[in-house]
Amino acid sequence: MILYRMPEIHTGADAMPALANVLSELDVRRLFIVTGPHVSRCAAFAAVKALAEQDGRAVAVFDQTSADPSLELVEEMSAQARAFQADAVLGFGGGSPLDAAKIVSILADRTGLSAADLVGTERVPRRRLPLLMIPTTAGTASEVTIYSVLTDTVARIKAAVCSRQIIPDFAFLIPEATTSMPASVTAATGMDALCHAAEAYLSKRRNPYSDVMALAAVRLISQNLLTACREPDNAIARENMLVASLFAGLAFGNSSVTAVHAFAYPLGGMHHIPHGLANSLMFEPVFRHNLTDNEARMADLAEAFCGAHDAEALIPAVTELKQSLGLPASLATAGVPESDLETMSQAVMTVTRLLSVNPNPIGLDDARRIYQEAFAGCEGARC
Ligand SMILES: [Fe+2]
Repeated sequence: MILYRMPEIHTGADAMPALANVLSELDVRRLFIVTGPHVSRCAAFAAVKALAEQDGRAVAVFDQTSADPSLELVEEMSAQARAFQADAVLGFGGGSPLDAAKIVSILADRTGLSAADLVGTERVPRRRLPLLMIPTTAGTASEVTIYSVLTDTVARIKAAVCSRQIIPDFAFLIPEATTSMPASVTAATGMDALCHAAEAYLSKRRNPYSDVMALAAVRLISQNLLTACREPDNAIARENMLVASLFAGLAFGNSSVTAVHAFAYPLGGMHHIPHGLANSLMFEPVFRHNLTDNEARMADLAEAFCGAHDAEALIPAVTELKQSLGLPASLATAGVPESDLETMSQAVMTVTRLLSVNPNPIGLDDARRIYQEAFAGCEGARC
């Protein structure tokens, strides 16, 4: 078992004052903010920037972070941060700006290193700039994990940096920073968090710590995700979803996600289906595959999710939530052609890092059946 250190976390109404205190205590004089083009226009970003500029502090903003940013883009950000002589980095946004900020905190402090040098497991040098995070979605949990997902545009593959050195120093969970998120994004990112927690609870790498975090996250998601979608300005539901995402991140960050995420990768890679939605589409067929021999753990998840200590209750309850959230019920309705299922089945078999920690083995025929069930949706399967 390995338990990584975690950032100092501030949530809710205390988070903004805490941000001001932390910037002062760290004696940050030149703050570099990494964000995206949409979130940089929201009121919460303006409030954070104004707060950061207090006390004569200089602030520079890079607001052009794209989804799964390329190695070249994070190097460009880092060059700007170096030229600005930044002494701290703040990531503000969804998973991509936060993932980019992690790399900027390294490269802005180092000459002679490229982003490609960091790709892989534990290839990041120890020294970096102080790293602060403000998530604007409740799903990726980048604010607590060792991961930064980039894109190698030459090889045309995802390039992941995995290192304890990029666990941020501080995270500020500000409910108002998530209220501009459209309901569809709230729903999909919330399902991502649910998958992080539920997969961690069944993972072969699970441990007593990840178990506690996973069940707490599942409980919070079941109680708050629908409200956060229907009442976007509900600060309590928003804060609870941020905390749920954080707990789910601590769960899978200290164990692993499993086959749902593995099956979601080809959906993202071949069909550009957003990560959270891709996981949502694969939840039922993968968990149905995992039900055998894992009834006790599935019952625990069901109890946390819907109050019934019954392994058979989990999948229908998740399907019901997805329907209430308005999420697509099948790969067919999400626009995936049936003719691509074979290619995706072959592709998922290469994601051995995640399949190997799935509780039940998955072979090629299992993969074909799982994608076929996901294609048909609930009407075509046993739910
Ligand atoms: Fe995820």
